[in-house]
Amino acid sequence: MWPDRRILDLFKTEFPIVLAPIAGAMDAELAIAVAQGGALPCLPCAMLSPEKAREQVNIIRGRVSAPLNLNFFCHKPVDADPAREAIWRQRLAPYYREHGLDPAAPVSAAKRAPFDAAFCEMVEELKPEIVSFHFGLPEPKLLQRVKAAGCLVMSSATIVREAIWLEENGCDVIIAQGAEAGGHRGMFLTDNIAEQPGTFALVPQVVDAVKVPVLAAGGIADGRGIAAAFAPGASGVQIGSAYLRCPESTVIAPARVALAQARDDSTVITNVMTGRPARGVANRVMREVGPVSADAPAFPHAATALGPLKVAAEKLGKVDFTNLFAGQAVRLGRDMPAAELTRALAGAALARLAALGG
Ligand SMILES: Cc1cc2nc3c(=O)[nH]c(=O)nc-3n(C[C@H](O)[C@H](O)[C@H](O)COP(=O)(O)O)c2cc1C
Repeated sequence: MWPDRRILDLFKTEFPIVLAPIAGAMDAELAIAVAQGGALPCLPCAMLSPEKAREQVNIIRGRVSAPLNLNFFCHKPVDADPAREAIWRQRLAPYYREHGLDPAAPVSAAKRAPFDAAFCEMVEELKPEIVSFHFGLPEPKLLQRVKAAGCLVMSSATIVREAIWLEENGCDVIIAQGAEAGGHRGMFLTDNIAEQPGTFALVPQVVDAVKVPVLAAGGIADGRGIAAAFAPGASGVQIGSAYLRCPESTVIAPARVALAQARDDSTVITNVMTGRPARGVANRVMREVGPVSADAPAFPHAATALGPLKVAAEKLGKVDFTNLFAGQAVRLGRDMPAAELTRALAGAALARLAALGG
């Protein structure tokens, strides 16, 4: 039925569909619903403490007996630079004043922690079937411990060179993330966002370059996209934006409206939300300060000064400073329970594949 069974055999899911870790937009509830629908669930841990992540994993495992993917960032952390912070605060000062906030008041630092010894201990204890990374891989000692815990490892590649590096460094599955994708570019051997190929150009070239199974990611949001991913040789798909409007996501009401109204040309790549290039629906700060600004502090520190603005605007029902990360196919997303959506996606893909085969 499916043209390629490698992901099904490896992950032991009903469908070759993987829920993309959508940090900041989901918790255990979406993971549970997607697992009930037959796809691979995940828990993005980048914005969680190990304690909170452990709690969420226990909730998922208490309700479904599906394989689980725990996802981590593995960027090299840099300390906040007070000089750049000051420039950024100055750039945002008019918005602070507009919202009755003091631009000089202390704010709590944005949290996006890379995979470290504490997370590694959690992985060794919980033994998720799969561990995935964004921005490369952690240092070899930590990666060895993850593999020794019996976890399959996957990570995102945005160019062929990254895919080859990931395979050579122990990845069992490569996620080929095309430029259409929502959220941060997983890039780690380049920082040139103009270089990132689209999904349809990237997937066949990654498939040709590596032996491990490849998941296609970026702009895949319905049965047509899933069916199309198999033609150039993907063994499955990783889907994020299509799930953002499911009732089980943690996306707040005004952001749901913005996502529902988004069109094919509503997303841009920006660095103003976190300091690292990511695709999202353009909001006020992205339009007026970015979408790319040399003033934005390094990842994740750009998010720090946006924190109070986000809270103040959201109180007014606005998403002017809220992260609306989403990909170019966000318009195809549906407001539908995630288990139902997963089955609908798989059914539509199989029907499309059958039609193409006939
Ligand atoms: C809101 C949002 C948050 C994301 N957060 C993460 C993350 O924490 N870790 C990760 O590996 N990928 C993250 N991604 C990227 C996804 O893994 C994936 O590449 C992307 O969703 C695929 O494109 P699509 O959104 O068009 O389906 C995020 C994407 C979105 C839309």
